[in-house]
Amino acid sequence: MKIAFFDTKPYDKSAFEKFSGAENIKFKFFETKLNEDTVDLAAGYDGVCVFVNDNVNKNVIDRLSELGVGVIALRCAGFNNVDIKAASGRIKVYRVPAYSPYAVAEHTMALLLTSIRRIHKAYIRSKDFNFSLSGFTGFDLHGKTVGVIGTGRIGKVFIDICRGFGMKVLAYDKYPDTSIDNGDTVRYTDREELFRESDIISLHCPLTDDTAHIINEKSLDMCKKGVVLLNTSRGGLVDAEALLSAIKSRKVGAACLDVYEEEGDIFFEDNSGHIMEDDVLARLISMPNVIVTSHQAFLTEEALSNIAETTVKNLVSYRDGEKSPNELCCTSGVTHGCLDGKALS
Ligand code: NAI
Repeated sequence: MKIAFFDTKPYDKSAFEKFSGAENIKFKFFETKLNEDTVDLAAGYDGVCVFVNDNVNKNVIDRLSELGVGVIALRCAGFNNVDIKAASGRIKVYRVPAYSPYAVAEHTMALLLTSIRRIHKAYIRSKDFNFSLSGFTGFDLHGKTVGVIGTGRIGKVFIDICRGFGMKVLAYDKYPDTSIDNGDTVRYTDREELFRESDIISLHCPLTDDTAHIINEKSLDMCKKGVVLLNTSRGGLVDAEALLSAIKSRKVGAACLDVYEEEGDIFFEDNSGHIMEDDVLARLISMPNVIVTSHQAFLTEEALSNIAETTVKNLVSYRDGEKSPNELCCTSGVTHGCLDGKALS
């Protein structure tokens, strides 16, 4: 089976080649992203393998279908960049629902600690033998309230980590898992109470119509002054302009962003020699209390290996006509796992 692999990075090849050989799957690694301009590169391949910033919209799916491509293998959990409805009945779509929730949750905590203890500033100062502490006063996490939006795999690991720090958790999820609610240190609530009562807010839900810009002018207005916002989920969850205004007005005390709504042409690439065209991102990055990482929360050895292994298994399921819990289906406009029929959005 021949697969066109889009948006290849150096760390992808070794992980995928380790698992594909035994299954006789041949990957052709393209550095370019999959989109309407590049889709013809998939001619002659049985499938495509894509990541978070490949744009697999209806036009791309129509063309893939014309080219006889039968499978789209997402090497990530989120699938907001693929028009599942358009693919339905024509091209099979698989994802990797979980590869290391620890990687993302641990990165989220790393960002939080870096931000509130000013590690990013201290690192630069001490490199210059400047050992002054002025401006570095942080705050204890112990006893603080963290609002966690989305209590799936990653949200739950993040909650465990926060509990280790002695924090209280207010959780919100469209489909709550009441088994983690102890009515005290971990408690489900509605969005409004979460916004009003949290010292820190962390986003771990998927990007859907329901969650797009869940952090906006109105929700930020409800927040405590000095709230710390963490987003390691999807950029579209945050209205970046509203966030920028709230940082300027000192409503938001700090923001840690591993994702950004318009990250598509910027993140994962070296833009150091270019003029940054995105004024909102440039202004956010210029703020002393904003930390931006380039969608790197997933990037651990363990996660890369799990992603490659599951993607190859997904392709084998497709080739052998076996059912897979990782296949995505769309009926009546609702996307769900093909086996369990459980709505995912
Ligand atoms: P998951 O599917 O295990 O959990 C998502 C949770 O969000 C579920 O409990 C679900 O019920 C909940 N949810 C769905 N709609 C909601 C809504 N309208 N409001 C509140 N909650 C809602 O997914 P997982 O593995 O925990 O991943 C979470 C997100 O993390 C993914 O959607 C993806 O966007 C992001 N991610 C980011 C990575 C990175 O490198 N920065 C890597 C992997 C995932």
